[in-house]
Amino acid sequence: MRLAERLRHIHSFRVMDIVDAAQRLEAEGHRVIHMEVGEPREPSDPFIRDAGAAALARGETAYTPALGLPALRRAIAAYYGTYHNVDLDPERVVVTAGATGALMLLSALLLDPEDEVLLGDPAYPCNRYFPLLFGAKASLMSLSAEAGFALTARDVAKAWGPRTRGVVLASPANPTGAVSSRAALQGLSDAAASRGGWALFDEIYQGLTYPSELDDQPALPAHGDLAPDRVGTILSLQGGADHEFLVNSFSKYFGMTGWRVGWLVAPRAAIPAIEKLAQNAYIAPSTVGQHGALAALAPEVMPRHEARRLAYFRARNRLVTGLRALGFSVPVVPGGAFYVYATLPPEQPDSESFCRALLERAAVAATPGTDFGVQGAARSVRFSYTAPLADLEEALARLEAFLAGRPVATRGA
Ligand SMILES: Cc1ncc(COP(=O)(O)O)c(C=O)c1O
Repeated sequence: MRLAERLRHIHSFRVMDIVDAAQRLEAEGHRVIHMEVGEPREPSDPFIRDAGAAALARGETAYTPALGLPALRRAIAAYYGTYHNVDLDPERVVVTAGATGALMLLSALLLDPEDEVLLGDPAYPCNRYFPLLFGAKASLMSLSAEAGFALTARDVAKAWGPRTRGVVLASPANPTGAVSSRAALQGLSDAAASRGGWALFDEIYQGLTYPSELDDQPALPAHGDLAPDRVGTILSLQGGADHEFLVNSFSKYFGMTGWRVGWLVAPRAAIPAIEKLAQNAYIAPSTVGQHGALAALAPEVMPRHEARRLAYFRARNRLVTGLRALGFSVPVVPGGAFYVYATLPPEQPDSESFCRALLERAAVAATPGTDFGVQGAARSVRFSYTAPLADLEEALARLEAFLAGRPVATRGA
């Protein structure tokens, strides 16, 4: 069968080899500690699951409007009002099939064949492939650990070419957990605007932000309550300018990866075109998923989302401290998401060999940097910290033994 040429440029995640090997080890009776996964570990909150089940019981099984349930679009807009003091017109909110659906729609909306999109390296791997689906391509800008993996207006100015149409930035970022400052976001947006381009902000880890101190004691600031040099959302800057697009999702902060519901916020003028694309691309997002998502925004569930954030904050502190003590370098404390992107100790082999050996000998699964780009990738590993603290302690103990060349007990441990 002749497959499209683009398939030759799209790779599956390297971490899938790790996932397969981990499953084999588990089948053989080893207890694997999973730090490779990019999702909350517990099932969605019972209130959300009940809402999904109730929607099914009521027979809510038909298509919704392509732009999403009006009540959910209003609830998302209200969320920005309550937590970020942003007055957002619900007509600018489009419910999508995960942030993935949003990224696909926006690529279809904004890119012609041969166009180019600027992305940081390292970054979420799929963002490189959405442009490819539409005949366009991603151009990578190297981010350095020493500079806190920050993407600046200067990087954008340097990389902008004749076919560049826009720039994509995730903050907090995957895999680095880097949170861009208010000034950096504004600079990036202005750099795109002054070149007649657009800026797409991936805010899928929005809400999952933490203070920079590795200290559990001070109370975690309230959701949306950030340091003065930070913003919780790009919408706080100028309410979303005409060249700015935002994507977000119920997957991470709200703990609903499998429900496949996300959203985008676009300039009002772009909504009819997005509606036409959504109708033709997938008709509508999952109906039951949207009912679950509506429940996820209810005031009674927010404290439980916050309790998860507090657990991640503590896990981050423990993991960064533990990894540094073991000789990993974590130059900047990750301010958000649920990942630590650490540089391997110098005596260790490349990241893919390291992750394979760590799994085989210590049953700890982590993701090699090569899944996220090329810059520093062979020396970097992404550790996700959504596992319970006791598992992270066990992982650190296993890592210590592994690095020291001691045997690690993993069978049913
Ligand atoms: C930066 C980033 N954007 C988008 C996504 C896609 O998320 P979803 O489609 O589950 O909303 C992910 C998932 O890991 C991500 O890390």
